[in-house]
Amino acid sequence: MERLDKILSNLGYGTRKEIKAMMKNGEVEVDGQIVKDNSLKIDPYKTIVKVSGEVINYREFIYLMMNKPQGVVSATFDNYDETVIDLLDLEHAAFSPFPVGRLDKDTEGLLLITNDGELNHRLTSPKWHVDKLYYAEIDNQVDEKDIEAFQKGIILDDDYKCLPAKLEIISSNENGSEVYVTIQEGKFHQVKRMFEALDKNVIYLKRIRMGSLVLDETLEEGTYRELTENELAALKGHKIQ
Ligand code: URA
Repeated sequence: MERLDKILSNLGYGTRKEIKAMMKNGEVEVDGQIVKDNSLKIDPYKTIVKVSGEVINYREFIYLMMNKPQGVVSATFDNYDETVIDLLDLEHAAFSPFPVGRLDKDTEGLLLITNDGELNHRLTSPKWHVDKLYYAEIDNQVDEKDIEAFQKGIILDDDYKCLPAKLEIISSNENGSEVYVTIQEGKFHQVKRMFEALDKNVIYLKRIRMGSLVLDETLEEGTYRELTENELAALKGHKIQ
């Protein structure tokens, strides 16, 4: 059982004070009855609560898929730059979510944003080796030797040897290449540094998959949606995938 005003406040309906005023105004209904006592405790899973006539969608966690645009940082707060959290509506930001893993400021694509710390841990902990698929444009020719080098494990500038990674060439010539890269880890600037180790530069990077979760290509850059039940179930069970 939890206080109704706290539940509504956590869902982004306003501050506790604002909710008290809304209740006094008769805007809040519990199982069909207007309630004015802001200290009322309810079980949000067993009670139908309406605010201004609309049934609330109670949940503890939210799971958002964003198509991250360039120019925003994957953080909850930043002194200079806009963050991915700044792109959320209040009703989602009210859950205090955070990005799962990081994409560089100039990287686009799939970013999961949630307030579920356990799922975050399972997806980002090095021990789970969750595959991340990127589309990349490279300033140089990419060939079989590079595919082999990725497979063997690239050694980065700090002497870290990457786990085997998959490089697939979409197109390549001396003017540049388009590739897919699948990595199992998430070191700082990893894809860019892997190519730098081969004297090549990533000029465009977009994440398109993380574990079972695939970027919804209908999402415009900078927009997001909640995960479907199937997407969430698949992500939570990614161990057996
Ligand atoms: N690798 C990078 O270099 N940058 C990203 O944003 C993600 C992976």
